[in-house]
Amino acid sequence: MRIGSILENQNLEKRIAITPELVKKYTSLGFEVNLIENYGSHLGIKDEQFKDMGVKISKDESEVLNVSDIIVQLGMLSDDKISKIKEDQTLIGVLNPYKNKEQLENLAKKKINLFSLELLPRITRAQSMDILSSQANLAGYKAVIESFANFEKAIPMMMTAAGTVPAAKVLVVGAGVAGLQAIATAKRMGAIVFATDVRMASKEQVESLGGKFLTVEGSENLETEGGYAKEASEDFRQKQEELLSETLKKIDIVICTALIPGKKAPLIIKDKMIENMQSGSVIYDLAAIQGGNTAFTEVDKIIEKNGIKIMGESNILNKLPVSASNLYAKNVFNFVDNLIDKETKKININLEDEIIEKTLIK
Ligand code: NAI
Repeated sequence: MRIGSILENQNLEKRIAITPELVKKYTSLGFEVNLIENYGSHLGIKDEQFKDMGVKISKDESEVLNVSDIIVQLGMLSDDKISKIKEDQTLIGVLNPYKNKEQLENLAKKKINLFSLELLPRITRAQSMDILSSQANLAGYKAVIESFANFEKAIPMMMTAAGTVPAAKVLVVGAGVAGLQAIATAKRMGAIVFATDVRMASKEQVESLGGKFLTVEGSENLETEGGYAKEASEDFRQKQEELLSETLKKIDIVICTALIPGKKAPLIIKDKMIENMQSGSVIYDLAAIQGGNTAFTEVDKIIEKNGIKIMGESNILNKLPVSASNLYAKNVFNFVDNLIDKETKKININLEDEIIEKTLIK
């Protein structure tokens, strides 16, 4: 069996799906690893490093695509690359079936096995493959770093002979994986942290990290059986708006992470709420690419409204591509490991396995 990967569109994606650390593991699984030349050079990984581990490096993208039984990537392949894949090959990545319907239909027609990792079930056995968690964790951390870098005051409280610098106040909206990491990071840097979520289960997690949970009083717990958020009712939205309008007047930095799977991100921080915030405050919107949690978010721009900066990026993980690739590549390896029959050393699409069944695009 051969596994391979080619470079992504470097303007959009700097992460890679196979790191040198994983080559040995693929080899022990019975794979030969095939990569395009300069696969990791933008991350400081030389071709020699891969070659020393037994990787076959090719100058020709078509060759890598052609010989690989399994192709592992980050995003969807472009049309010219799709045309180079043959029947019965397997493509694994974040294929985004909502966005890439047409490409996926073309691939399915060619009888390519397609696995999209963002569809993994959130079950214990899938935790080591959970790309949403590994990447959201890093995104939550980096959003705090980016917003703090754009904040023109100090974060921790400092008592000096010249006077006291107060600690910055941070509000995290949405306490899922990214939100919880944002809370932990902001706390470590000395901020006073508040957080809110529609799922009541997150209250305890926020508090265990030293954050203060803001409960929308009189509201029901908006959690699905799978642990995700339900869309909020009009009544909830109004109460949340009242609560946040008051809180935001004294907040310095807001980290937005609220998402509802398969839907546009909920609009939570409205224009009037931003008007009432203190000049110099910063909002980092991690939901930017899904439509944003604020009224003014624009992808890859820093918008200024009454002295308040509102920022959000298309791919914050490009700002820590080495850490993000290390985790992503491990997630992918664990997924492939589960997909391979250990006796025959062949792919086994066992639809009784929830992990395989849920990620397979039919
Ligand atoms: P997500 O990225 O879909 O959403 C982020 C957060 O926004 C969630 O906490 C959600 O409740 C919150 N949210 C949505 N609408 C909101 C609103 N209007 N106001 C305030 N907050 C709002 O969620 P993520 O981070 O993927 O986590 C979802 C769930 O999955 C959590 O319960 C988490 O514990 C669980 N999980 C389970 C795993 C496992 O067992 N393998 C792995 C990772 C997460």
